[in-house]
Amino acid sequence: LLMIVTIDGVAASGKSSVSSGVAQALGVPYVSSGLLYRAATLLGLEADLDLRGAPDLLNLLGAHPVRLEPLAGGNRVWQGERDLTDDLHSTRVDRGVSVVAALPEVREWVDAQLRALPEPFVAEGRDMGTNVFPHAPHKFYLTASARIRAERRARERPEDVPAIEADLQRRDELDTVQSAPAPDALVIDTGPLDLQGVIDTILTRLH
Ligand code: C5P
Repeated sequence: LLMIVTIDGVAASGKSSVSSGVAQALGVPYVSSGLLYRAATLLGLEADLDLRGAPDLLNLLGAHPVRLEPLAGGNRVWQGERDLTDDLHSTRVDRGVSVVAALPEVREWVDAQLRALPEPFVAEGRDMGTNVFPHAPHKFYLTASARIRAERRARERPEDVPAIEADLQRRDELDTVQSAPAPDALVIDTGPLDLQGVIDTILTRLH
């Protein structure tokens, strides 16, 4: 099984925890593509750029390259010596990232970095199975209701469940274009499953 496994899905569907678990079981790294979109957003916000303006953002990213380190236990994102990882999951970045991810130039910047990574790995995001790795032999797509996802995420954010649910629904809408499941992906409703249940569902399909 020395190949690429893609795990896509809506915001807060558990993609990164599931991908990490599957990758560890397979003994390969996982790659969290959303972190690169988040890094572009964080750096744009810190530089006070208009997040809708691709040229300035791309200049910034070109001048100070960002690197994704795909470890099995958790990905890290570096800009030179600075570890950006712990700053990528703020509410500010959550709210800006869909605007940045809608820019074709930024999508190309992310896709090029992903396609340069050595196989095998588990790739997690929105369009791993459709756009970035359409020939991957194993594709999965995770869903769950907005309420269930908000309840899960409320354990990691300061806001309350209704506020998080509203933000998730807004992000789902903005992400619709790049979030369709691949026709050959297995769609898994994670609502009734716990983390290990989702991981096991995927591993069963791989054996
Ligand atoms: O997966 P995560 O929620 O961290 O992704 C953050 C944002 O990055 C998403 O809301 C989406 O706008 C964007 N994204 C994307 N394509 C991917 C991964 C993430 O557009 N493959």
